[in-house]
Amino acid sequence: MAPTVTSVDATEPKVASIKTLADSDALTYVPTEYTYTMDPNDKGDENDPEHSIPIIDFALLTSASPDERAQMIQKIGKACEEWGFFQVINHGVPESLMKEMIDACRRFFELPEEEKKEFQTRNLLDPIKCGTSFNVAIDKVRLWRDYLKVIAHPEFNSLYKPAGYSEVSLEFSKRTHAVATEILNGISESLGLEADYIAKAMNWDRGLQILAANYYPACPQPDLAIGIPPHTDHGLVTLLIQNDMCGLEVKHNDQWVLVKAAPGAFVVNVGDQMQILTNDKYRSVWHRATVNNTATRISIAVPHGPALDTPALPISELLEKEGEKAKYIGMTYEKFMELQASPAAYMMPCLDHLRVKDN
Ligand code: OGA
Ligand code: NI
Repeated sequence: MAPTVTSVDATEPKVASIKTLADSDALTYVPTEYTYTMDPNDKGDENDPEHSIPIIDFALLTSASPDERAQMIQKIGKACEEWGFFQVINHGVPESLMKEMIDACRRFFELPEEEKKEFQTRNLLDPIKCGTSFNVAIDKVRLWRDYLKVIAHPEFNSLYKPAGYSEVSLEFSKRTHAVATEILNGISESLGLEADYIAKAMNWDRGLQILAANYYPACPQPDLAIGIPPHTDHGLVTLLIQNDMCGLEVKHNDQWVLVKAAPGAFVVNVGDQMQILTNDKYRSVWHRATVNNTATRISIAVPHGPALDTPALPISELLEKEGEKAKYIGMTYEKFMELQASPAAYMMPCLDHLRVKDN
């Protein structure tokens, strides 16, 4: 008798979500396809108190006192140069709104798998998409993470379920966008430019904002799995919030530093487009999401980028000031995002593709 051949579509995940897998009672180990081997020298250093990302006080940044503002602008510049990451406190977005947003995302991830299927699309710029891992068609190792990505600007998109998601995400998106705008303006000034220089050059009023929620369930062997491997973010600035679990690590002076943000703070990082604009002065820093064996971690990363049709190029005023040549050629943000999502560039810094060869 001929053997029965079961055809398996390699692009289909074995489980629809890591949540389903992690919820199964018997799971006491990390299955092979999720096993991520980390170089022992690459382990994070969690206990060095000297090592924590700088804190920017938003109330001082937006203060009526020019001295206080100037001080914060300088601090932003230093944080961007030395860390590429900082946390923002006193930003006025209610902690209760952040919690409601995290809770709405949790309720989405907890919907029955059947009910999430309609959002499992594959195209990069689909207004709403959810899934597991990164891109199951090309992942060599499955990531210990489910995601939900919703484009909230320039057009606001939303889900009709779970109940409340739409209202909460609209408010969260608006408030976060306003904070991101102030930060962008502060960064612009820290470079000696007009506050709205970068916003104007990058068509910020049509810029992309994505509400990207990550769900990392507790993992029985956290050292053998990864939430998101080391990568850089593609946009101008990313703002991130999380529930009360840590996990984000940032590469700083060749060491992985665990981010311990104040409750209610936004964690902010510079993205690839900013590195291009500043000709490498402000670098898009490597970071990763680790997992833990205690409780589910939820984070919401909110990347803000240029308008999709807008290419970032090193800013000529800065090149003149520094006496430098442009290190990058231009590419529209849309093309850049496509490149970053392509199999050839899997979790690799795409900036190298745009780098001018002869300087
Ligand atoms: C991201 C990211 C880190 C985290 O979504 O790009 O880096 O802590 N997330 O979830
Ligand atoms: Ni990231």
